[in-house]
Amino acid sequence: MYFHGTSKINDQGHLEIGGCDTVQLTEQFGTPLYVVDEALVRQRCREYMEAFRASGMKFQVAYASKAFCVMAMCRIADEEGLSLDVVSDGELYTALQAGFPASRIHFHGNNKTPEEIEMAIDAKIGCFVVDNFIELHMLNQIAGEKGTKVKVLFRVTPGVEAHTHEYISTGQTDSKFGFDLQNGSAMRVMKEAKELVNIEILGIHSHIGSQIFEVEGFRMAAEKVARFAVDVRSEAGVVFQVINLGGGFGIRYVEGDTPLPVATYVKAITDAVKEQFGQADYPQPEIWVEPGRSIVGDAGTTLYTVGTTKDIPGVRKYVAVDGGMTDNPRPALYESKYEAMLANRAKEANEEVVSIAGKCCESGDMLIWDLELPAVKQGDVLAVACTGAYNYAMASNYNRIRRPAVVFVQDGQADLAVRRESFDNIVGNDVIPERMQKPAMTR
Ligand code: LLP
Repeated sequence: MYFHGTSKINDQGHLEIGGCDTVQLTEQFGTPLYVVDEALVRQRCREYMEAFRASGMKFQVAYASKAFCVMAMCRIADEEGLSLDVVSDGELYTALQAGFPASRIHFHGNNKTPEEIEMAIDAKIGCFVVDNFIELHMLNQIAGEKGTKVKVLFRVTPGVEAHTHEYISTGQTDSKFGFDLQNGSAMRVMKEAKELVNIEILGIHSHIGSQIFEVEGFRMAAEKVARFAVDVRSEAGVVFQVINLGGGFGIRYVEGDTPLPVATYVKAITDAVKEQFGQADYPQPEIWVEPGRSIVGDAGTTLYTVGTTKDIPGVRKYVAVDGGMTDNPRPALYESKYEAMLANRAKEANEEVVSIAGKCCESGDMLIWDLELPAVKQGDVLAVACTGAYNYAMASNYNRIRRPAVVFVQDGQADLAVRRESFDNIVGNDVIPERMQKPAMTR
């Protein structure tokens, strides 16, 4: 297994992260357990901030909180000077409860409700990323009712779609997100927005995909966006102050994944924007990005306890852990691949090939196929690497399984960031209608 951040094997032959023995962590906090390497998260934040500072451009790095949105993570993003991208009232609420400065919050989403818009305007967030015409007019109306103006970016589909190694440079028209550059709807919204008195146009936004390992797609997007900016200046008389190129910077999950250093992505983006806008004699805009996965993904490790095994001679050996698709739905949803090791026997040689199953009542609940491990036995601790992004964030209570705790580790200290769900949490929102209650029931 690849060792990310501060992960290493300690003298006891155990996996250690942030100076904490992971076997001890499982004894203290139980399993499954999400462990976050705080130093690595902060390092990634700093890599972005430093690379942008080096470019000399005005910038914001907005952490895409959808990847992992808990209050402690919002605190880290704030402390490191990042901004925050939220997509729902729940993410906004989490950020505000964590004391994240509203002025650095950007609100995304293709179907913001009137209630969400009101909540965000009342909180005085930094800007909305407008996705469609209906939202634009709702924003203008609600802002007017509240006697204020809102700053907006417009999400456009630039006609560049990244499939990690592959770019399709036409035909992203068929997307639920944003305004199309090619069919004229992006230009139309600029002209409409200009006339709305409670809307202040900051600029535009484009997001080309996720888990991208090359810079070419970002360069292509910068080029299309710059060309559009020039057209908007001449046709609508609007000059953009902000260009937001979204997120999608890739990370290493397994061998064969080849992400670039953060500084390489950032330099390619800032160079492309400088060049494109420079050539057009356009005032250099601020450049914003929205990394999610690349801030938290490789800093997360999930620890499980091995339970039962099922050996089918000549076929395969299933090894079941005490979690699965409830804490990590990505293998079932996207066929995502992960690396793993036995955290309690980290120095032992691999002896067998097994497949790691979850405990949900569903055949598709598999975490890893064909994993090499030492001879596995009940009670072993399995550590799955690179689970920091879109794991806790996408966790569910399927089979009424309680969501695990999250601990942040650093310099030998482990701090609880999310408590493990309790049985009371599980039934807490259930109501038994009176006519179904047994005589002595109180609930
Ligand atoms: N900005 C926008 C507008 C986005 O839609 C996304 C991701 C990001 C930023 C952050 O992208 P990142 O840097 O994390 O790649 N659940 C999927 C990923 C969905 C990504 C959705 N949007 C997964 O587990 O792979």
